[in-house]
Amino acid sequence: MAIGIIGAMKAEVEGLIQALAPVSQTTVAGLTFFQGELVNHPVVVVQSGVGKVNAAMCTQILIDHFSVSAIINTGVAGGINPKVAIGDVVIATHAMHHDFDVTVLGYDPGAIPSLETSCFEADPNLRQIALAAACSIHGDKRTHSGIIVSGDQFIASTERKKTLAQTFNAICAEMEGAAIAHVAYLNQVPYSIIRIISDQADSTAPADFHAFVAQIIPGLNQIAMEIVRTYSDCSNR
Ligand code: ADE
Repeated sequence: MAIGIIGAMKAEVEGLIQALAPVSQTTVAGLTFFQGELVNHPVVVVQSGVGKVNAAMCTQILIDHFSVSAIINTGVAGGINPKVAIGDVVIATHAMHHDFDVTVLGYDPGAIPSLETSCFEADPNLRQIALAAACSIHGDKRTHSGIIVSGDQFIASTERKKTLAQTFNAICAEMEGAAIAHVAYLNQVPYSIIRIISDQADSTAPADFHAFVAQIIPGLNQIAMEIVRTYSDCSNR
């Protein structure tokens, strides 16, 4: 079975798509799914578009139409915990929606009524493989793991950043991971989120985001390929 790889923006998936051989394309609901082999293992790579609805729909299609065995979400993120610097890699332990708010009804921030959990744990095996791949390729000092939070907002203020750190103990913020984790959880499909820090989610974030995205993604692609290789080898044993 293939592994699904989701990136929101073109810059986050184009290197992986170029590395696919052989490759075929299928379009579903306006999204183009690229099926092929990465490091000799079957994958489906797709650009979901930005934001949680796009990411959720894309994840469900990967599961229903392509029967993927696992899902990796790759891309950039804004640093929330002061220990992460631009260019560092973060592997999710869990993912949460930071903009899901029914606190006025007595729920915790991010809690989704009717779900047993709203803090979606990444697959332990995939997470361990991702961490090992990132540490060996990127170095342990530039690799971190923790709670990744997602919302339909680009975070660019020190105040909002502080709130996300205090409320969710978040290490970084992006706009898709929790939606992917949420759908993966409901379908009982293993998932992992690997992100590289493009900005510090403060007032410098918009400029840094534009300056660094293209520069830092190739390093993350190498890690994604190593995860595919190791995870597929383990699963086929
Ligand atoms: N992706 C990269 N940087 C981000 C930020 N600051 N906020 C949300 N998503 C991001």
